[in-house]
Amino acid sequence: MIICKTIQEIRDSVDKLTSTGGQIGFVPTMGALHKGHISLIEQSKKTCKVTVCSIFVNPNQFNDKGDLARYPRTPEADIKMLEDAGCDIVFMPSVEEIYPKDDTRVFDFGVIDKVLDGAHRPGHFNGVAQVVSRLFDIVKPNKAFFGLKDYQQVLVIKKMVEQLHFNIEIVACDILREPDGLAMSSRNTLLSAEERKAASLIPKLMQEAKMLSKSVPLADVKNKLLAEVSTNPLLKADYIEFCNADTLQTITDINAQKTICLAAIFSGKIRLIDNLFIN
Ligand code: PAF
Repeated sequence: MIICKTIQEIRDSVDKLTSTGGQIGFVPTMGALHKGHISLIEQSKKTCKVTVCSIFVNPNQFNDKGDLARYPRTPEADIKMLEDAGCDIVFMPSVEEIYPKDDTRVFDFGVIDKVLDGAHRPGHFNGVAQVVSRLFDIVKPNKAFFGLKDYQQVLVIKKMVEQLHFNIEIVACDILREPDGLAMSSRNTLLSAEERKAASLIPKLMQEAKMLSKSVPLADVKNKLLAEVSTNPLLKADYIEFCNADTLQTITDINAQKTICLAAIFSGKIRLIDNLFIN
């Protein structure tokens, strides 16, 4: 596996490996890799000749500086996992390489970047759009692979691709879960044993939402789930919402539309997100 730190290095490496043609698959990450990321690498390898992974903890998408400082960084273990998975190139740039000067671009994706995490983490999706568009410009992939745990991020990136006219296919890949159902996330490694145990309620809430919503009004389901969260002193709900899966508009009646339940819940100081289609 080729390890690149600079834009020049990654461009040269991609050109070399695609000199006889073939598609470039791209998996952007912030490192602290887990099996969920590796499943994206595997998806890319199935259809692309060259698979590139980036590891870059993007300061522009953290509205909370404490969260940025806490974000796990495990570069050696990441390189080993990528090598074992057969990734061709890893791009590990510095902040200066990605942002030689401040990125002042302001994106507007309508409702999609204003609600849920957009409302609770101001500036987050603007930072995601800044870095992903920059990485797309550098790597120039044919396909890019993203996990559906970050459901809203996938919609934002699809909109960004449309707005900026990138000729890149966005491939959304299923959530990978731990044996107790918790969605895999780099942030899980930050949980204490007690917080980890408490967090296992989150996927159960998603399943409960799916089951109850068949017969109970969504507003009542939401109140029941919020009440359950509040019984555990380690947990605090940032939001639990039922939304139209395409527009992310809040809905009250699941019959008419494709509905997704999305939640952001703190276990201790660690903010975890999850989602589940409920019809
Ligand atoms: O999902 C992530 O890890 C990040 O938001 C991404 C897409 C790599 C952009 O920094």
